[in-house]
Amino acid sequence: MVAAYSPGMVEAAQLHVKSLGECRIESPLGALVARRGTTEHYVDESDRVLLDDTVAMLAARNGGELPSFEPGGPRRRIFFDPSKIRVGIVTCGGLCPGLNDVIRGLVLELTTHYGVSRILGFRNGYQGLVPRYGHNVVELTPQTVDYINEQGGTILGTSRGNQDPDEIVDCLEQLGVNILFVIGGDGSMRGALKIAAAVAARERRIAVVGVPKTIDNDIPFIGHSFGFQTAFGRATESLRAAHTEATAQTGGIGLVQLMGRHCGFIACYAALANNDADYVLIPEVPFELESFLPHLRRRVAERGHALVVVAEGAGRDHLPAQRDASGNQRFGDFGIYLRQRILDDFAAAGEEANLKYIDPSYVIRSVPANPYDSVYCLRLAQAAVHAAMAGRTELVVGSWRGRFVHVPIPLAVASRNQVDPDGDLWMSVLEATGQPPAFTSERHPAGTV
Ligand code: F6P
Repeated sequence: MVAAYSPGMVEAAQLHVKSLGECRIESPLGALVARRGTTEHYVDESDRVLLDDTVAMLAARNGGELPSFEPGGPRRRIFFDPSKIRVGIVTCGGLCPGLNDVIRGLVLELTTHYGVSRILGFRNGYQGLVPRYGHNVVELTPQTVDYINEQGGTILGTSRGNQDPDEIVDCLEQLGVNILFVIGGDGSMRGALKIAAAVAARERRIAVVGVPKTIDNDIPFIGHSFGFQTAFGRATESLRAAHTEATAQTGGIGLVQLMGRHCGFIACYAALANNDADYVLIPEVPFELESFLPHLRRRVAERGHALVVVAEGAGRDHLPAQRDASGNQRFGDFGIYLRQRILDDFAAAGEEANLKYIDPSYVIRSVPANPYDSVYCLRLAQAAVHAAMAGRTELVVGSWRGRFVHVPIPLAVASRNQVDPDGDLWMSVLEATGQPPAFTSERHPAGTV
């Protein structure tokens, strides 16, 4: 997997979205759609949303076809007849604020606007589509999804790991499902891709549409993923507590570990939101403890306290890794390890350290979505329904530069969104913390910046 998107690495053809066939049916949203396309802000379905957004990036394309996304939104004509279809919804992978908002958004859009009446919820991730697990299938209606957006988690349950795509397509065929919505992270989207391939191999017309989910914000070509804002907002409470504790003690050190297996978005945004952190350590910027620890001691000696924010994946060069059921790397607990290293370092130097360690862990992702994420989840759900009803398949919906777009799943799983060490987010973090650009002996010897 490529680490992150960089301009020029995507060709126009990779943004082509698959379709099950011609849209011949008048959309029930026709009257609503007819009035669209009259302002410069609306992207008509025949128009495209540019991937690159600077003159320099466009110029670098040298006059070739410009890579662009198919816009999301309702179509004037659709592929599926709403009165004849059955829809399935499944939530997969770790929890994320907003899962219930997306489920409810899908159900309400399908029923209220398109008039689809048969919606099935598969329980406990992809396991719910494999009979031998014995999970029941639930009917989803506007009534059964009432108020679910006020709860964290997912009413459907979830599980990690993919299942045999052929068994899943057997299940879809047996139940007469025409559209499957998968709400999940990159591992689940790789599973969705295999399901779509198995559907295509059988020449069936079943749309597979993803709503990408992760608090880590590591799915590429999506402005940000739903739940991310709620999660880092929750994380700020831990930073505030750690900072308050640190400033109240001599030699006070607040150490907060936050989720982020491969990327430090939660750590960076939480740190910027509080603007109290002195150090942010993330997986994208390698560091040497031999360089970081003396810097921290000096900071505490000079200012009396320090707040350190660490993304869990920052320890990947320091601890051995294993893999979970979805094939994701899992590392040992870096926060605990770092805490001990800091205490040992202060002790060896004969300096006082009052370290308070906080790891909010699952607390930041098991909560209901905040109002911003709720709006975003609903709009993603609407975009997903519009795409599926128009017969689009093998795609995830996302927002790119302020517009809803269709992203082919192969592209969405081919790379990972990460904090760019040369980008403006990391620059903001460096400005806010005052920490050196890197803690490595070669490029930036500790204490020189
Ligand atoms: O959702 C991604 C994530 O939050 C990672 O940051 C974290 O490592 C992982 O999930 C842990 O989830 P679980 O314990 O459910 O595998």
